[in-house]
Amino acid sequence: MSSSYSARSRYYKTEINGHKLHPETQMMSYGYDPSLSEGALKPPVFHTSTFVFNNAAEGKAFFEVAYGKREKGEDEDPGLIYSRINNPNLEVLEDRLRLWDGAEKGLSFASGMAAISTSLLAYVRPGDVVLYSEPIYGGTEFLIRNILPGFGVTGVGFTTWNEDRSLTIATEEAKAIAKENGGRVSVILVETPANPTNCLIDLHECRDTALHIEQELGHKPLVMVDNTFLGPLWQRPLEHGADIVIYSLTKYVGGHSDLVAGGVVGSESLLGPIAGFRTILGTMCDPQTGWMILRSLETLKLRMTQSCENARVIAKFLNEHPAVESVGHLELIDPSDPAAQVYKQQCLGPGSTFAFDIKGGEAEAFKVLDALKVIKLAVSLGGTESLMEHPFTMTHADVPNEVKNRLGVTESMLRISVGIENAQDLIADLNQALSLIEL
Ligand SMILES: Cc1ncc(COP(=O)(O)O)c(C=O)c1O
Repeated sequence: MSSSYSARSRYYKTEINGHKLHPETQMMSYGYDPSLSEGALKPPVFHTSTFVFNNAAEGKAFFEVAYGKREKGEDEDPGLIYSRINNPNLEVLEDRLRLWDGAEKGLSFASGMAAISTSLLAYVRPGDVVLYSEPIYGGTEFLIRNILPGFGVTGVGFTTWNEDRSLTIATEEAKAIAKENGGRVSVILVETPANPTNCLIDLHECRDTALHIEQELGHKPLVMVDNTFLGPLWQRPLEHGADIVIYSLTKYVGGHSDLVAGGVVGSESLLGPIAGFRTILGTMCDPQTGWMILRSLETLKLRMTQSCENARVIAKFLNEHPAVESVGHLELIDPSDPAAQVYKQQCLGPGSTFAFDIKGGEAEAFKVLDALKVIKLAVSLGGTESLMEHPFTMTHADVPNEVKNRLGVTESMLRISVGIENAQDLIADLNQALSLIEL
């Protein structure tokens, strides 16, 4: 029973008579063989910390492969050893996680931050520099600004809208620091669209920058993309030059605001060191959460499609409302703005989380939030229910005010994550709340 569950599964169909199966179809069966679990239609939850070996030689062989002491033989299954290394629920989950992105391999984590920190730690060394896009999720920013420097790693931020902090200028700075510290520019970490302003980073430019750095310094930085906001339905960064794609599965993929998890997808070779770090840091997902994400993956396309449609309708309503100054929905980008071209080039849809500025300041923003009757006042995003929050004092409370001002995170900004409710009900709620703003 202990050799890898998914490796023994017969359920790896990717096509029928040359007809390629789509991810939304594969989410119901890929990588899970009911005959290995008494015919259960759905995988049982493997609540077990450890796995029994058939004999000592098998145990030895499993460890040799798991700890990289030798390459796995051609017909050899990786073995189940211990749930910090892997577990059947996580094997099935990781097989399915990679499908939407067309990646070779997937890894699951205890949270989005576990995925980000484990991936960075696997690839940075003392003296190195991480080039990162700003604004970036607050936890990621904290890791780069406050934790990594303690390990000799410097973060250099870049933005798309301030020429003094462009990727080109930040790259020169990053190279100089790396040379001075005897390190490398080892990672370009990008969050696009950025939270909460929805500004877009050109992934092709990041890939070209990585190649340019390799030419000059002899080491290619990995382009890591946090695809939480649009992925996996509306953006596939691996098709646009990313090496590794990271998710907070807590958001759209989990999709019901009832779990915390993270994921990473990419090539087998690039994910190998991350899997090794995950085993030792113990940042893996647990089997129960893994099972819940498998359930969520079955409805991912339906949920993301409906919430995207609702968000379109709501963005249009807000854009026409007299109490609203501006709306950061991706389809409302001015066609003359270079971001419009980036959107066309690398995104497949606008998603359903965006910020908008109302007339007034914090007092007016709070008045709107406190008046909501259907939409919930909470941080996080990507769930079935609509949520609203005030980034300036909530999700971005930790970011210094002058940085928020620079990034365009204002006191009059509200962020909405649109759910799958009836759009007209959401509009009725927003309308009554916005009517409290005196014009
Ligand atoms: C874009 C983005 N990345 C990463 C994270 C961190 O994810 P988690 O809360 O699952 O650790 C978040 C959380 O809000 C996020 O919005």
